[in-house]
Amino acid sequence: MKKVVVIDHPLILHKLSIMRDKNTGSKDFRELLEEIAMLMTYEITRSFQLEEVEIETPICKTKAKMLTGKKVAIVPILRAGLGMVDGILKLIPAAKVGHIGLYRDPETLKPVEYYCKLPSDISEREIILVDPMLATGGSACDAIHLLKEKGAKNIKLMCLIAAPEGIEAVQSSHPDVEIFVAAVDERLNEHGYIVPGLGDAGDRIFGTK
Ligand code: URA
Repeated sequence: MKKVVVIDHPLILHKLSIMRDKNTGSKDFRELLEEIAMLMTYEITRSFQLEEVEIETPICKTKAKMLTGKKVAIVPILRAGLGMVDGILKLIPAAKVGHIGLYRDPETLKPVEYYCKLPSDISEREIILVDPMLATGGSACDAIHLLKEKGAKNIKLMCLIAAPEGIEAVQSSHPDVEIFVAAVDERLNEHGYIVPGLGDAGDRIFGTK
Protein backbone atom coordinates (compact mmCIF):
# COMPACT_ATOMS: atom_id res chain seq x y z
CA MET A 1 0.00 0.00 0.00
CA LYS A 2 1.27 3.49 -0.88
CA LYS A 3 1.86 5.78 2.07
CA VAL A 4 0.06 8.99 3.02
CA VAL A 5 2.38 11.99 2.80
CA VAL A 6 1.42 14.79 5.19
CA ILE A 7 2.99 17.99 3.88
CA ASP A 8 2.96 19.89 7.15
CA HIS A 9 5.33 22.71 6.23
CA PRO A 10 4.92 25.76 8.53
CA LEU A 11 3.91 28.01 5.62
CA ILE A 12 1.21 25.56 4.58
CA LEU A 13 -0.13 25.10 8.12
CA HIS A 14 -0.23 28.86 8.72
CA LYS A 15 -2.17 29.45 5.51
CA LEU A 16 -4.47 26.52 6.25
CA SER A 17 -5.32 27.95 9.69
CA ILE A 18 -6.45 31.20 8.05
CA MET A 19 -8.56 29.18 5.62
CA ARG A 20 -10.20 27.27 8.48
CA ASP A 21 -11.33 30.51 10.16
CA LYS A 22 -15.02 31.07 9.37
CA ASN A 23 -14.40 34.82 9.11
CA THR A 24 -12.04 34.41 6.13
CA GLY A 25 -13.84 35.57 2.99
CA SER A 26 -13.89 33.94 -0.46
CA LYS A 27 -11.19 36.13 -2.01
CA ASP A 28 -8.61 35.28 0.67
CA PHE A 29 -9.79 31.67 0.82
CA ARG A 30 -9.26 31.23 -2.95
CA GLU A 31 -5.83 32.88 -2.89
CA LEU A 32 -4.67 30.78 0.06
CA LEU A 33 -5.92 27.56 -1.53
CA GLU A 34 -4.02 28.36 -4.71
CA GLU A 35 -0.85 29.16 -2.75
CA ILE A 36 -1.06 25.95 -0.72
CA ALA A 37 -1.67 23.91 -3.89
CA MET A 38 1.49 25.44 -5.36
CA LEU A 39 3.52 24.65 -2.23
CA MET A 40 2.19 21.08 -2.12
CA THR A 41 3.13 20.60 -5.79
CA TYR A 42 6.75 21.19 -4.84
CA GLU A 43 6.60 18.07 -2.64
CA ILE A 44 4.37 15.97 -4.91
CA THR A 45 6.81 16.33 -7.78
CA ARG A 46 9.82 15.26 -5.69
CA SER A 47 9.80 11.80 -7.31
CA PHE A 48 9.79 13.17 -10.86
CA GLN A 49 12.59 11.83 -13.07
CA LEU A 50 15.51 13.95 -14.20
CA GLU A 51 17.91 13.46 -17.09
CA GLU A 52 21.27 15.02 -17.84
CA VAL A 53 21.43 17.21 -20.90
CA GLU A 54 24.27 19.19 -22.50
CA ILE A 55 23.83 22.95 -22.23
CA GLU A 56 26.13 25.89 -22.69
CA THR A 57 26.29 28.61 -20.03
CA PRO A 58 27.87 31.98 -20.92
CA ILE A 59 31.05 30.48 -19.43
CA CYS A 60 31.32 26.91 -20.75
CA LYS A 61 29.61 23.71 -21.87
CA THR A 62 28.21 21.64 -19.02
CA LYS A 63 25.76 18.89 -18.15
CA ALA A 64 22.55 20.03 -16.44
CA LYS A 65 19.51 18.23 -15.06
CA MET A 66 16.14 18.62 -16.75
CA LEU A 67 12.79 16.94 -16.15
CA THR A 68 12.11 13.88 -18.24
CA GLY A 69 9.63 11.02 -18.10
CA LYS A 70 5.89 11.16 -18.11
CA LYS A 71 3.88 14.27 -18.81
CA VAL A 72 1.36 15.45 -16.24
CA ALA A 73 -2.41 15.71 -16.17
CA ILE A 74 -4.12 17.64 -13.40
CA VAL A 75 -7.64 16.37 -12.77
CA PRO A 76 -9.79 18.40 -10.39
CA ILE A 77 -12.95 16.86 -9.02
CA LEU A 78 -15.61 19.53 -9.66
CA ARG A 79 -16.27 21.86 -8.19
CA ALA A 80 -13.95 22.43 -5.22
CA GLY A 81 -10.96 20.81 -6.97
CA LEU A 82 -10.92 23.76 -9.41
CA GLY A 83 -9.57 25.92 -6.61
CA MET A 84 -6.25 24.05 -6.63
CA VAL A 85 -5.60 23.90 -10.39
CA ASP A 86 -4.00 27.31 -10.96
CA GLY A 87 -1.54 26.81 -8.10
CA ILE A 88 -0.35 23.52 -9.61
CA LEU A 89 -0.19 25.01 -13.12
CA LYS A 90 2.12 27.75 -11.82
CA LEU A 91 4.77 25.07 -11.23
CA ILE A 92 3.81 22.67 -14.04
CA PRO A 93 2.59 25.01 -16.81
CA ALA A 94 2.74 22.32 -19.50
CA ALA A 95 0.32 20.03 -17.68
CA LYS A 96 -3.02 19.26 -19.30
CA VAL A 97 -6.19 19.60 -17.27
CA GLY A 98 -9.05 17.08 -17.24
CA HIS A 99 -12.28 17.48 -15.28
CA ILE A 100 -14.42 15.01 -13.38
CA GLY A 101 -17.82 16.18 -12.15
CA LEU A 102 -19.20 14.39 -9.11
CA TYR A 103 -21.67 15.61 -6.54
CA ARG A 104 -22.60 14.12 -3.24
CA ASP A 105 -26.18 12.96 -2.94
CA PRO A 106 -27.23 14.69 0.31
CA GLU A 107 -29.37 11.69 1.32
CA THR A 108 -26.99 8.82 0.66
CA LEU A 109 -23.71 10.86 0.81
CA LYS A 110 -22.71 8.78 -2.27
CA PRO A 111 -21.01 10.44 -5.30
CA VAL A 112 -22.97 10.83 -8.55
CA GLU A 113 -20.98 11.39 -11.80
CA TYR A 114 -22.29 14.12 -14.12
CA TYR A 115 -19.22 15.11 -16.18
CA CYS A 116 -15.94 13.61 -17.38
CA LYS A 117 -13.55 15.16 -19.91
CA LEU A 118 -9.94 13.99 -19.88
CA PRO A 119 -6.88 14.46 -22.13
CA SER A 120 -6.91 11.76 -24.86
CA ASP A 121 -3.46 10.49 -23.79
CA ILE A 122 -4.45 10.16 -20.12
CA SER A 123 -3.06 6.60 -19.96
CA GLU A 124 0.46 7.92 -20.64
CA ARG A 125 0.34 10.75 -18.14
CA GLU A 126 1.25 11.10 -14.49
CA ILE A 127 -2.03 12.17 -12.91
CA ILE A 128 -2.54 14.56 -10.02
CA LEU A 129 -6.15 14.15 -8.92
CA VAL A 130 -7.20 17.11 -6.78
CA ASP A 131 -9.98 17.67 -4.28
CA PRO A 132 -9.45 19.88 -1.22
CA MET A 133 -11.54 17.76 1.16
CA LEU A 134 -11.09 13.99 1.49
CA ALA A 135 -14.15 13.26 3.63
CA THR A 136 -15.83 9.85 3.18
CA GLY A 137 -13.49 9.15 0.27
CA GLY A 138 -16.48 8.29 -1.93
CA SER A 139 -15.82 10.93 -4.61
CA ALA A 140 -12.08 10.27 -4.67
CA CYS A 141 -12.59 6.48 -4.99
CA ASP A 142 -15.11 6.99 -7.78
CA ALA A 143 -12.88 9.45 -9.63
CA ILE A 144 -9.89 7.08 -9.35
CA HIS A 145 -12.06 4.22 -10.62
CA LEU A 146 -13.14 6.34 -13.59
CA LEU A 147 -9.54 7.34 -14.36
CA LYS A 148 -8.42 3.71 -14.23
CA GLU A 149 -11.26 2.74 -16.60
CA LYS A 150 -9.80 5.28 -19.07
CA GLY A 151 -6.38 3.65 -18.76
CA ALA A 152 -4.74 5.81 -16.08
CA LYS A 153 -1.90 4.03 -14.28
CA ASN A 154 0.01 6.60 -12.24
CA ILE A 155 -2.32 8.50 -9.95
CA LYS A 156 -1.45 10.76 -7.04
CA LEU A 157 -4.28 12.20 -4.94
CA MET A 158 -3.74 15.71 -3.60
CA CYS A 159 -6.06 17.02 -0.88
CA LEU A 160 -5.89 19.85 1.60
CA ILE A 161 -7.59 18.17 4.56
CA ALA A 162 -8.40 14.49 4.99
CA ALA A 163 -10.54 12.62 7.50
CA PRO A 164 -9.12 9.27 8.65
CA GLU A 165 -12.24 7.62 7.14
CA GLY A 166 -11.43 9.04 3.69
CA ILE A 167 -7.81 7.92 3.79
CA GLU A 168 -8.88 4.42 4.78
CA ALA A 169 -11.46 4.26 1.97
CA VAL A 170 -8.95 5.27 -0.72
CA GLN A 171 -6.20 3.04 0.64
CA SER A 172 -8.43 -0.02 0.76
CA SER A 173 -9.98 0.48 -2.72
CA HIS A 174 -6.86 1.88 -4.43
CA PRO A 175 -3.68 0.87 -2.57
CA ASP A 176 -1.57 1.94 -5.58
CA VAL A 177 -2.57 5.61 -5.20
CA GLU A 178 -0.28 7.83 -3.14
CA ILE A 179 -2.16 10.38 -1.03
CA PHE A 180 -0.75 13.85 -0.27
CA VAL A 181 -2.49 16.02 2.33
CA ALA A 182 -1.67 19.14 4.34
CA ALA A 183 -3.56 17.91 7.42
CA VAL A 184 -5.38 14.87 8.74
CA ASP A 185 -8.30 16.01 10.93
CA GLU A 186 -10.18 14.20 13.67
CA ARG A 187 -13.27 12.68 12.07
CA LEU A 188 -16.45 13.18 10.05
CA ASN A 189 -19.64 14.51 11.60
CA GLU A 190 -23.11 13.07 10.96
CA HIS A 191 -23.50 15.25 7.85
CA GLY A 192 -20.26 13.99 6.29
CA TYR A 193 -18.30 17.18 7.08
CA ILE A 194 -14.73 17.01 8.30
CA VAL A 195 -14.24 18.07 11.95
CA PRO A 196 -12.79 20.61 12.61
CA GLY A 197 -12.29 21.06 8.82
CA LEU A 198 -13.14 24.33 7.13
CA GLY A 199 -16.78 23.86 6.13
CA ASP A 200 -17.89 23.38 2.54
CA ALA A 201 -14.81 24.07 0.41
CA GLY A 202 -16.82 24.66 -2.79
CA ASP A 203 -19.11 27.19 -1.10
CA ARG A 204 -16.16 29.00 0.46
CA ILE A 205 -14.24 29.17 -2.84
CA PHE A 206 -17.16 30.37 -4.92
CA GLY A 207 -19.07 32.37 -2.30
CA THR A 208 -22.21 30.24 -2.57
CA LYS A 209 -24.33 29.17 0.32
N1 URA B 1 -16.62 18.49 1.49
C1 URA B 1 -16.37 19.73 1.98
O1 URA B 1 -16.32 20.71 1.24
N2 URA B 1 -16.13 19.85 3.30
C2 URA B 1 -16.16 18.80 4.16
O2 URA B 1 -15.94 18.98 5.36
C3 URA B 1 -16.44 17.53 3.61
C4 URA B 1 -16.68 17.41 2.29
